[in-house]
Amino acid sequence: MLEISNLVKRYGHDEAVLKGLDLTVEGNSVVAIVGASGAGKSTMLRCINRLVEPTSGSIKLNGNELVKLRGAALRRARRKIGMVFQGFNLIDRLTVMENVLAGRLGYVSLYQAISRRYPPADIERAFSLMERVGIAHYANKRADELSGGERQRVGVVRALMQEPEVLLADEPTASLDPRTSEQIMILLQSLASELSLPVLINIHNVSQAKTYTERIVGLRHGKMIFDGAPSDFNQDALDAIYGGIEAPEEEVAEVPPTAEGVSHDQA
Ligand SMILES: Nc1ncnc2c1ncn2[C@@H]1O[C@H](COP(=O)(O)OP(=O)(O)O)[C@@H](O)[C@H]1O
Ligand SMILES: [Mg+2]
Repeated sequence: MLEISNLVKRYGHDEAVLKGLDLTVEGNSVVAIVGASGAGKSTMLRCINRLVEPTSGSIKLNGNELVKLRGAALRRARRKIGMVFQGFNLIDRLTVMENVLAGRLGYVSLYQAISRRYPPADIERAFSLMERVGIAHYANKRADELSGGERQRVGVVRALMQEPEVLLADEPTASLDPRTSEQIMILLQSLASELSLPVLINIHNVSQAKTYTERIVGLRHGKMIFDGAPSDFNQDALDAIYGGIEAPEEEVAEVPPTAEGVSHDQA
């Protein structure tokens, strides 16, 4: 279980970007974090894995406070936090298997990593997870030979190799076409229940959030202004979160198609 309370983040002397967030996510539940660009979605995920230092507040993962950790204790806590990225963050010239095993770097010794002597249990785990997500036959391919959806599956498996207690995904589908995005959302949803993992997904596609998650949290200017079921996420909620800021995806989609056809949002 992930418990965030009164989380505040201020970069330098600027106005706070997160203004006292409270959020509890149970294991095996998938939460979509929606909000306009700049609302603070990425900052929230980065506070959880401590890529940025929270200014104040508390973040507990299965009862362990993450906010004050330093040094070795922080490194131990970090390996319990799996992260999936919009741009996949793979090492292109390495194989799929090598990318996946990078998820064990928090566990194996430097010698084991450099000499690529991962314990057999790690290799077995890698194969079984790759099989689970349908990429085992690519184990020895270079990462850059894969399609976007396959690359994101590698990213997901790498995160799961950490044996995480929470999975954070920052716009995991924003670089993918709509069909592949759906498959990745379905995969994240099934993994959450199979592995009893809380999963937080930053996502700007509201219709995907509504279809593939069971809870939506809406951020605006660093404040949580919606927290509820997709069925309660109505036009008012949409207006409250995006009103006067930017048109959400669905409204953009009503613009007549361009010469290229569907926008794949390669941002
Ligand atoms: N490293 C940083 N230093 C200063 N300001 C930042 C930094 N990262 C993000 N911000 C600011 O924090 C706000 C929230 O950004 P972000 O968390 O990336 O929002 P989102 O992911 O919802 O688009 C934005 O105004 C952004 O400019
Ligand atoms: Mg972001």
